[in-house]
Amino acid sequence: MKRIGIFASGSGTNAENIVKYFLESELATVQAVFCNNSRAGVIDRAHKLGIRCILFENEDLLNGTILKKLAECKIDLIALAGFLRKIPSDIIDQYDHKIINIHPALLPDYGGEGMYGMHIHRAVIENEEEETGVTIHYVNEEYDEGDIIFQEVIEIDYEDTPEDVQYKVQQLEYKHYPEVIEYLLNSLD
Ligand code: GAR
Repeated sequence: MKRIGIFASGSGTNAENIVKYFLESELATVQAVFCNNSRAGVIDRAHKLGIRCILFENEDLLNGTILKKLAECKIDLIALAGFLRKIPSDIIDQYDHKIINIHPALLPDYGGEGMYGMHIHRAVIENEEEETGVTIHYVNEEYDEGDIIFQEVIEIDYEDTPEDVQYKVQQLEYKHYPEVIEYLLNSLD
């Protein structure tokens, strides 16, 4: 069995969706959720799903604590799902092409520090974009700049609100993120 580690800072709907997708899988399981926000909804979701939730301080990313926990949990693939801190280079080096992120827009547009969640959907509407979508990419040292693995585009209707766009993008995330994770795990040794 391959072991997935999910990093999340917020509500955790993607984390929950990934956990559920792999519940019956013979390929992989979600081993733990790593969370850096003690008020995040993902903690309760993990608890209800019976998944270990490792709560940590941001400095633990830098002082080796998280690397140790990842090794202890024997994590094969790290999936960021609404995780809002940079991943430091020692973790990226250790998990080369084994850390991925989902972004609720068509990178390289609407990426970078501060571009997350509803901030993105509001900016997309303000700019009167005709399309948006979802991007799944490898994580490197810069926010949202790693190589793109997968993108899907959706159209924005002229009357769509940021909340409508968020809903549409979430449906894409729930459909594609687990499938891309599964695809990548299948190609690991
Ligand atoms: C998701 O839409 C994810 O794509 C986004 O945060 C949301 C987390 O929702 N990530 C980013 O914006 C990263 N820059 P969730 O906590 O309900 O899964």
